[in-house]
Formats: sequence, C-alpha cells, structure tokens
Amino acid sequence: MANPSTIRLLVAEDVPQVSQHVRNLLSVQSQVKLLEVLSDGSKVLEAAHQLRPDVVMIDLLLQGKIKGPQLIEKLRDSGLDIPAVILTVPQHPIARDPSRGIDAVLTLPFSGFELVNTFGHVLADRQARAAGACRVVAVFSPKGGVGKTTVAFNLAVAVAQLNVKTALIDGSLQYGDLRALLKVPSDVPSILDLPTDRVHESDLHEVMWRDPAGIDILLAPPRVEMAEMISARDVEKTISLLRRLYEVIVVDTPATLSEVTLQFLDTADVVLSLVTYDSTTIHNTIAVAEVFNAIGYPPEKMMYLVNRADSSGGIGRDELARALGRRPDFEVVSDGRLVVQANNEGMPFVVASPDAAVSRDIRRAAQAILGHPAGVPVRH
Ligand SMILES: Nc1ncnc2c1ncn2[C@@H]1O[C@H](COP(=O)(O)OP(=O)(O)OP(=O)(O)O)[C@@H](O)[C@H]1O
Ligand SMILES: [Mg+2]
Repeated sequence: MANPSTIRLLVAEDVPQVSQHVRNLLSVQSQVKLLEVLSDGSKVLEAAHQLRPDVVMIDLLLQGKIKGPQLIEKLRDSGLDIPAVILTVPQHPIARDPSRGIDAVLTLPFSGFELVNTFGHVLADRQARAAGACRVVAVFSPKGGVGKTTVAFNLAVAVAQLNVKTALIDGSLQYGDLRALLKVPSDVPSILDLPTDRVHESDLHEVMWRDPAGIDILLAPPRVEMAEMISARDVEKTISLLRRLYEVIVVDTPATLSEVTLQFLDTADVVLSLVTYDSTTIHNTIAVAEVFNAIGYPPEKMMYLVNRADSSGGIGRDELARALGRRPDFEVVSDGRLVVQANNEGMPFVVASPDAAVSRDIRRAAQAILGHPAGVPVRH
C-alpha cells in the first residue's frame, strides 16, 4: 500500500534532459512519487483531474500550444486547488507569488534535497492556509479618543511578538491615525495604491509599510478627501487578499459608523470594542451593541476591552458589567507617561517597556485573542 505521507507529483516538462535529471533525483528517495511527466502542456489539466497529484511542477519555459506561464494560470483558475512549483533557469528568474499560482520556484541546477524539501514546504504552507488560520480583529468604539489607535498598534505588535505573521490596517481612512503616529511620510503608499481589479501578493509587498516592530501596515490615504475613493467593496477585497497572507489582521477604525467602517466590522472575526469608565462612552457602546445584535453579529464575535481600567471615575466594575450585559474580556491600565511618550516617538510601548503593567495587559489580550492561555507562547 502507498505510504499516505508520500507526495504525489505530476510534472510538465518538455526538455528530455531536465525530465531525466528530475527522475534521477527522485529515484533515490521515497518521499515523492512521480506520477507522470507530460511534455505537452495541453494535457496537464486533464491529467491533474484524473490523477489528483499533491503538487504539479511546471517548467516556466514549456513550449507548445500551452506555454509555461499560461499553464500556471490555467492550473490556478482550474479550481483544482493543487499547488504549483515552477522550474526555471537563472536567465529567467521569476518570483514566488501564490496569488499568481506560483507556490514555489526551483532554479536549475538543484539537488534532490532541495527538490523534495520544496514540495514539503509548499504542502505545509497550503495546509496552514486551508486551516483558515487568519483572524481579523477590528478595534472599534463609537466614541473618539478612547485609545483605539494606541491599542490596535500595540496589540498588533504583541501578536507579532508571538511569532505570528501580522498585518495592521489603518481603517481610520480620513485621518490616517497610524500615519501620524508612526510619522510615515505622505508619499508612502496607502490602501489607495492597491489596484482595484485583481490584487496580487506582489502588489501588496510594494504597498505595505514594514514597521521595525515586526508588523506590516496598510496605511490610510495621505489626505482627508481621498478617503472617499475607497469603497466598501475595496475593503472587502483587500481583507480577503490579506487573509491569504497573514495569520492575524488588526484593523484600527474611526468612531463613525460609516459604510466602510461597517464593512471592516462585518468582515472581522472579532470586534474588539473599547470602553472606558465614562458615562457617554458606556452609553454609546450599549447603543451600538444593540445595532450589532440587530444586524446579526453573534455574541462570540464581540469582545470588550476596558481601557484605562484603573481610572474608574466613580463607576464600579459591576456597574459597567451590568450596563454591558456581560463582564468585559480585558482590562488595560492607564499609564499616561509611558503611553504618551511611546506614542509621541512612534514606538509601541509593548516594545519600549515590555514589563510595564500596561504592556502586560495588552499581551494578555493578544494571547487570548489567539486562543492561548495567558503566558503560553504560541510557537517556539
Ligand atoms: N492605556 C492608556 N493609558 C494612557 N494613555 C492612553 C491609554 N490609551 C490611550 N491613551 C492616550 O489617549 C489618547 C487617545 O488615544 P488614541 O489616539 O489611541 O485614541 P483613538 O480612540 O484612536 O482616537 P480617535 O477616535 O481620534 O481615533 C492618546 O493621547 C493616547 O496616548
Ligand atoms: Mg484613532
């Protein structure tokens, strides 16, 4: 019986010497089973339908009726969901781009070890994506100035510190709070620079801002009036693309419930609602919770974080829980000196002062959002 962990491979290659080379490399190992080598690109899809390989290897320079690049595209669009490893030569370099159907690239000459390893990585990557590992967390409050941007930024960094691939989106499209916080120049690209038709992974690399704290940030447009150019549909497309590339996406939102903000919240897996011990904030939070309930957000989608939780202003914890109809999930203490200074320097306080109580509180929230008990790192 075949070993269930054997990788079943189909190859599209029309240069006899290259197919022989691949056969030779594979003949001395048992992890990869070569199903067939096809020299005619037009036969590959049918064979893939019948043989159901785990991976298809395609020579970029495949000639004939269907050439290499066309075959890559056809396989991607076939709905078969089989990853492709592209074989090329140094004179024809090509970048890995899973959104274009290029799950890995092997450049000749390569060893048997590299060949087998590449298939293993590609499959592991597919499995991780298929597991739907990505969580989108929208940080929201119907009240301005409660700490949404501060919490979203530090939460994203705390998640990334757990070795999780994390993106932060500045959903505060009009004012672009993160651009100001991080002092990013106005000519750095924004969500506006993503093409609106087919967005590919490679487009995204050019648009994301890499923060030294280890997160990728999709900035808001540099000018207030430009926010109007982003539609709810653009938001939906952007998030669905980012979901394929990141394990966690944190979204900073504005206090206004516009169509675009609602789209961010609809698309999110978790709406992290920020509240403070302030009667108007609590009132607005309850009002908006009723709206979320009416539009059908399940209770488990909502999480509550009390910011500046040690500044109760005469309102008791129980009173807040009664008003919200549940106990808040997280509390983050106030630390005027550290938070304001870190914000002014564009630094996450979880990095600047990891042992401060406010940083520990944010880390606890990051761990819980990832579904891990406090103090237990996600991966080693
Ligand atoms: N836990 C905290 N301790 C001390 N200061 C805080 C804390 N959280 C936020 N702040 C401060 O509160 C102010 C408002 O924070 P922030 O800009 O993050 O709020 P926001 O909700 O994003 O505001 P807006 O509605 O304008 O987008 C900032 O000066 C920030 O430094
Ligand atoms: Mg803000």
